[in-house]
Amino acid sequence: MNKKIKKIIQKKNKSKIICLTAYSKNIAKILDKYCDIVLVGDSMANVLYGSKNTHKITLQNIIQHGVSVKKGIKKSLLVVDMPKDTYKNKKKAKENAQLIMKKTGCDAVKIESNKKNYVIINELINSDIPVMGHIGFTPQFKKKFKIEGGTKYETKKLLKEALSIQKAGAFSIVLECISPNASKLITNKINIPTIGIGSSSFCDGQILVTDDMLGLSGFYPKFIKKYVNLKRIIEKAVKKYSKEVKSKVFPRKTNFLYGR
Ligand code: KIV
Repeated sequence: MNKKIKKIIQKKNKSKIICLTAYSKNIAKILDKYCDIVLVGDSMANVLYGSKNTHKITLQNIIQHGVSVKKGIKKSLLVVDMPKDTYKNKKKAKENAQLIMKKTGCDAVKIESNKKNYVIINELINSDIPVMGHIGFTPQFKKKFKIEGGTKYETKKLLKEALSIQKAGAFSIVLECISPNASKLITNKINIPTIGIGSSSFCDGQILVTDDMLGLSGFYPKFIKKYVNLKRIIEKAVKKYSKEVKSKVFPRKTNFLYGR
């Protein structure tokens, strides 16, 4: 087993697993110092490409950003999302996951669960491709946002799904927008780490979309904490630059490449 993956699994019940998303080298380089896992998420559809959902992200898109992110990563585990429709059957899933791994040099891929694709996960595991699962709100398969695990019936179904993903061989599972009770139960019942987003502090780790926590995306539901208002900081810098170019304060002679 990949040493980095072994280390992530060993963190369960010991220390929290820190994860964030990245789509480019410069951000990845900063995250790498503090994160255990960096995810090249298909959330880039909303964050970078201004789409309403994640459905139009292609294999080429995810590979291109994965290549960039990999250049900023030294120590964290790099996981790349498999875009919608790239893992519809075992053959396609294996071909596409192998291509993602080969081109980006990532450590693992992430697959959203549709409660049926456990055989796909198992096929990838048998082909030496580590897989992270994803349950709860899975934007590739669900149109409408809904918090899951609010009833005993839903919680039972989610637990069954998590156990099936574990049995298929995944090394961890993202729990997206799942009730605290269900997240706690799933985290206690499975042996692999759970990574929560909008799923309480009971998970083994947490993930956020980096642009959201930096205050860049403008998307701030209750489960997100904005750690800085980067939008305001960038705006201030750009405004100053614009003013200085207009008033000929920039470039100064010290910025000239030749002469004085
Ligand atoms: O695409 C993504 O960024 C994700 C996270 C929200 C887990 O899947």
